[in-house]
This record gives sequence, structure tokens and C-alpha cells, in this order.
Amino acid sequence: MSFSILGSGHYVPPRVVTNDELSTFLDTSDAWISERTGIRERRVCVTENATDLAVEAAKRALDKAGVAPEELDLILCGTVSGQYVNPPLACMVQERLGATCPCLDVNAGCSVFLYMLECAAGYFARRTVKKMLVIGSEQMSRILDWTDRSTCILFGDGAGALVLGEGDDYLASTLYAKGDDRVIRIPTHIGNSPFYQGEQDSPYVHMNGQETYKFAVHVIVRDIEEVLRKAGVAGEDVRWVVPHQANRRIIDAAGRRVKSVGGDKFFCNIDRYGNTSAASIPLALDELAQSGQLQKGDLVVLAAFGGGLSSGACLIRW
Ligand code: ACO
Repeated sequence: MSFSILGSGHYVPPRVVTNDELSTFLDTSDAWISERTGIRERRVCVTENATDLAVEAAKRALDKAGVAPEELDLILCGTVSGQYVNPPLACMVQERLGATCPCLDVNAGCSVFLYMLECAAGYFARRTVKKMLVIGSEQMSRILDWTDRSTCILFGDGAGALVLGEGDDYLASTLYAKGDDRVIRIPTHIGNSPFYQGEQDSPYVHMNGQETYKFAVHVIVRDIEEVLRKAGVAGEDVRWVVPHQANRRIIDAAGRRVKSVGGDKFFCNIDRYGNTSAASIPLALDELAQSGQLQKGDLVVLAAFGGGLSSGACLIRW
């Protein structure tokens, strides 16, 4: 046994920041950003934090699933921009929802939603849970250097959640990691120890864009093809590929290369949200479901890549 998806939900803060607004304080333009990334606007927290976004997304997913917080047996959260390093985001969500189950956070950069689904499948296989909540939530705006035009234009804030129950709809998966802090890293807070004499790295997103781009296109194609092979499913039978929303050009390049599926099945909403890291896949899934473009029984491939370096893909039946 693995799991079935009982409901999904997402939430984004209401404040919209367009590329034009960014160009009022950065040396950039709507033309540069939209041509290189596909991003036109993103949502940004003003008073909210990653806990607030996660709680709203979770409430919507629970409502959709018809599951009460007291029924949950585990909450998993993925974030790189949570309110605290500790308590875990999952514990903060548990308190706000009024749930009582065990909780933990998982860190696998932008691939974390794929890693969390694999963890969830393990819990269901051991039959220690019957209902689980899995959330990706990010306040990326708090860990961006807003004077660095090469990174701050890429990201946005938001959250997405799935409620899982017993079932057999997690069909195949593949996960990879290759330790590397040169391509992508987010250093933790610089302390004020009077003893420490090492280097101090600013606590913001550092990224080599071109290296990330090459890595992303390579692994996303490899992982999607591998997961289809493992499941013995033909690309033409897949209804949607929901890739991590990091750059429209990465999604288009992957769509062209995975010929058996076809680029028109690669879902993209990056124009409105930018890269919301852990939230990007559940947010995209919920938008697809809410718009009626995802029907019960549809086969969907999820694929992600990010800091770690990490990547992964899985095949689910909606
Ligand atoms: N506006 C205008 N000009 C800019 C901007 C900007 N916002 N940012 C950079 N430039 C300039 C650079 O300074 C450079 O100028 P120069 O030629 O005078 O030196 C020029 O544009 C080209 O810069 P590149 O970095 O070579 O631009 P590139 O075409 O590689 O695009 C981008 C940059 C969009 C970041 C691209 O590399 C990319 O998308 N990479 C992948 C990012 C990604 O996937 N991140 C997600 C994973 S990480 C995570 O999720 C935590």
C-alpha cells in the first residue's frame, strides 16, 4: 500500500509585485525578466509568514478532503524560509489547526515535496498512519537579497498542501542527491559569537544561475524518463507533468526533450507566482485541480530539482 490523494489546497499572500514594480528599485526590466524566466509577477508577504501561508493552504486541503485536523496521524512540512529553525513549521501548523499528531519538517531544497511524498509512502506502507497532511510553504522574500537583481526577481511566497489517505495511487518514484554548496546555498543566520573567526556568508539565496539551469534541464529529463520506465507507463498515457516552477525556459526545454509525453502537457504557472520553492508543486497541482483540468484517475508526473543538489520525480494517479 502507498496512499491516495484526498484533497489539495493552496494559499498565496494578496500582495502582487510585478516586474515593473521591481524595476523601480532594481536595474532590471519586465522584458528581461519575462524573456529569461517567464515570470511576470509574484506574491510577497507583507505581514504574513510561512506558518500563516501553510495554515491557510492546509485548511483548504482538509476542507476539500473532508478530513478534520483531529483525524491526522502525521504532518510533514517542507520549507527553507520558515518562521523558525525550531520549532519545526509542522509543529506550528499543528498548533494552529488544533491537531495532536506527530510532526516533522523535511529539508531537500526545492525537491522537498517529492522527498516528502516518498516519506509519506513509507509511513503508509508500515500502516502506522491513516491520514496525513503534507505541506510546502515558503516566505522566500525573507531570504532574498533585494539588492541582487540576479536572484531576487526569481522567487515568490506561497504554500500548497495535500491530504493523503490509504490507497495505491503513488505508482513509482525516483530520488537523487549530489552534495554541493557551490551552485545553490542559503547560509543560516550569522551569529555573534565572540570566538568565531571563520568566514561569514550573507544569509540569503546564493545561486549560480547558469550552472543551476544546466543541472535542472539534465535531471528533470532523466528523472521523468526514469520514473515512467519504472512504472511501465507510456508517456502518451500521462495527463500532466507538473514540474518545479523555477524558469519557463527550463520547463520548455524539458518538454521538448521528453518527446514521449509532449511539451503541451508540462504545466506552467510561473508567470503569476515565480519560484515558490517547496510550495511550487502542490500549488500548481491544486490550481490544476481547481480549474477542472485534472480529473480523478488522471496520471500525473511530478518532477523537481534544487539545492542539495537534489532532484526527484514520481508518478501518481489523481
Ligand atoms: N535584469 C537585467 N539584467 C540582469 C538581471 C536582471 N534581473 N539579472 C542578471 N542580469 C544581467 C547579468 O548581469 C548579465 O549581464 P552582463 O552580461 O553584462 O554580465 C546578463 O544579464 C546575463 O546574466 P546571466 O546570469 O548569464 O543570465 P542568464 O541568461 O543565465 O539568466 C537566470 C539568468 C534567469 C537566473 C537563469 O540562469 C536561470 O533561470 N537559471 C536557473 C535558475 C533556477 O532554476 N533556480 C531555481 C533553483 S534554485 C532554488 O530553487 C532555490
